[in-house]
Amino acid sequence: MAILITGGCGYIGSHTCIELLDAGHDIVVLDNYYNSKPEALRRVKELSGKEFPFYECDIRDAEGLRKIFAAHSIEAVIHFAGLKAVGESVQKPLEYFDNNVGGTITLLEVMREAGCKRMVFSSSATVYGMNNPSPLKETMPTGGVTNPYGRTKFMIEGILEDLCVSDPEWTAVLLRYFNPIGAHASGRIGEDPNGIPNNLMPYISQVAIGKLQKLSVFGNDYDTHDGTGVRDYIHVVDLAKGHVKAVEYAMKHPGAEAINLGTGTGYSVLDLVNAFQNVNGVPVPYVIAPRRAGDIATCYADPSKAKELLNWTAELDVNDMCRDTWRWQKQNPNGF
Ligand code: NAD
Ligand code: UD1
Repeated sequence: MAILITGGCGYIGSHTCIELLDAGHDIVVLDNYYNSKPEALRRVKELSGKEFPFYECDIRDAEGLRKIFAAHSIEAVIHFAGLKAVGESVQKPLEYFDNNVGGTITLLEVMREAGCKRMVFSSSATVYGMNNPSPLKETMPTGGVTNPYGRTKFMIEGILEDLCVSDPEWTAVLLRYFNPIGAHASGRIGEDPNGIPNNLMPYISQVAIGKLQKLSVFGNDYDTHDGTGVRDYIHVVDLAKGHVKAVEYAMKHPGAEAINLGTGTGYSVLDLVNAFQNVNGVPVPYVIAPRRAGDIATCYADPSKAKELLNWTAELDVNDMCRDTWRWQKQNPNGF
């Protein structure tokens, strides 16, 4: 029996492959390389010392998926594959709905044909929208999303919940990630964004290494301790370990369950900049810029449900996140 990892060549997927292999699971990986490179999985094999089957396949390709399910006994799917750039999703909504929502429906249809009815899905804290106060709890209302990317996550959560109602054999664990940053402690795998990064941590590390001149801090007049936006940054290796726990939980508990994966602690933009400078001894020049449209002041998790159901808590702190990001950036200035 094996676990199929869609999008396993990407940032979170590659780290999760390592943790699954280390925990003794057999994996099969698929990716269409839209936002990743084969080198990432070569390094996963190097770090884990293990081999596993890989398929270059699109989740919208039902025939390709059928071949994978016919060749392997798949007991559960961890579904990372998807497009994730918020700004791009506003420009290309149809591409986002087709790839994320359409692709997930095709995948679920093929899973049902094959009798594999367990999915761990990469959702996002974005489903909580703009109006819930932090700490965010799974019982709070979702929706009110502000962009097509967020809407795809909200829609897929609904599809999985409806599927679990229609057939009690289905299991769906909806993992709502907060802000994943950091890299594997080896410095061999990490986040490799295309072009100029949109997210804070990759931007900081590219400023630190001199690829970008300075960071723009989007707003210093929020209602937070220093006026800059507060987020729940979580180390990608902790996040990956959460997936191991979630897929093991999915083997035993049918039904749909939404679970936050965050640390429960918020850091501001300037907290993160200062931690990065202090831990790594490198300057990160910045300027204060206007607020970014669609941003909220504060967003952090109540992570108690993950502790209760999965026996999972984040273990690495913000200094680990900054140190590991910098090691990856220095060792791989141009990514993979
Ligand atoms: P990523 O882009 O690094 O990884 C996604 C992988 O999926 C890539 O390797 C890409 O090539 C592949 N892919 C995309 N479309 C595909 C398709 N149609 N068929 C097959 N493969 C396809 O992104 P990530 O940061 O590792 O994110 C993984 C998942 O987690 C995504 O669904 C993302 O929306 C979600 N998520 C990410 C974050 C974050 O901050 N990184 C936060 C919340 C949720
Ligand atoms: C963003 C997305 C969210 C997605 C997540 C992970 C938006 C509105 N939200 O979350 O849907 O799930 O990424 O991909 O895009 N910041 C700066 N300067 C920068 C970049 C960011 O000051 O150059 C600030 C932001 O204003 C924010 C914080 O840093 O306060 C974190 O930003 P970011 O890393 O983009 O994550 P989110 O906005 O939380």
